[in-house]
Amino acid sequence: MKPRIFVTRPVPAEVESYLQEHCECDFWGQEEPVPRQMLLERTADVQGLLTAGGKIDAELFDHAKQLRVVSSLSVGYNHYDLPAMKQRGIIGTHTPYVLDESVADLVLALMLGTARRVVELDRYVREGRWQRGDNEVLYGFDVHHATVGIIGLGRIGEAIARRARFGFAMNVLYHNRSRKPQAEEELGAAYRTLDELLAESDYVVLMTPLTPETKQLIGRRELALMKPSAIFINVSRGQNVDEAALLEALQTGAIRAAGLDVFDREPIGAEHPLLQLPNVIALPHIGSATAKTRFDMAMLAAQNLVAGLEGRTPPNVVQELQ
Ligand code: DGY
Repeated sequence: MKPRIFVTRPVPAEVESYLQEHCECDFWGQEEPVPRQMLLERTADVQGLLTAGGKIDAELFDHAKQLRVVSSLSVGYNHYDLPAMKQRGIIGTHTPYVLDESVADLVLALMLGTARRVVELDRYVREGRWQRGDNEVLYGFDVHHATVGIIGLGRIGEAIARRARFGFAMNVLYHNRSRKPQAEEELGAAYRTLDELLAESDYVVLMTPLTPETKQLIGRRELALMKPSAIFINVSRGQNVDEAALLEALQTGAIRAAGLDVFDREPIGAEHPLLQLPNVIALPHIGSATAKTRFDMAMLAAQNLVAGLEGRTPPNVVQELQ
């Protein structure tokens, strides 16, 4: 008998067929996240869950007594209650590797977009404000040959460093839990303490996963250490930043600009004060959102789930549960 699964996210037809070949599938089938109560009901008798975001915790496991494998269609797995999963022997997987280059591309897009004021000046043209003789009002700042500081030099951080170093001749600094001698050698990345990195960088890029240690890692004190000319980029998780402190820093000119793909609450409301600032570029959490990468992530999530349900070790069990 095929194992039963609940799939909370829309997946491409090919992935759907693969899942149907191996499992009895219940697809949520809607773009909006599945409401919590519905999740609890629809997982009551499944062995597998394919999801992305939304708490995966003891309450869910109390309802889903047969659940054996949870596969997240994301590299981040801060929505997993790891101790509860460990205690019940539930396998948890994620989708690393396949999104690294796409996320790194987006970080560069935000660096260039904020530095050269791409969104702000697009509005300027559309609103008919462009006049012959416009000069300094259009100026931005250079990315090439500037200093980028990457906080969290994992695979994505390294892909950013490679672009920065070899594409834009940037000086690359990094801060990480452990030193990365290979990246230092191959990418010319120089290790700094967090405070040193913040003080020296023209572009501060936050790439840490969300953990109890990184929650609100960037707050008032850290923002005050940055140069007034610094640009802050966050494509990790909104909760890694004290958003009120960031807002204040952007409003008062304590830093120059921010490129944000993630927010404390998502979706962020249109009336949010951050969205009223011209020196902010805001995106709807699209770090990995290219057609190919999202296809690869969906297929990998499906393969992880099927492997776990068939009694094989899934290729991408999250580190803490290995
Ligand atoms: C991830 O995969 O964790 C990205 O943030 C996209 O959700």
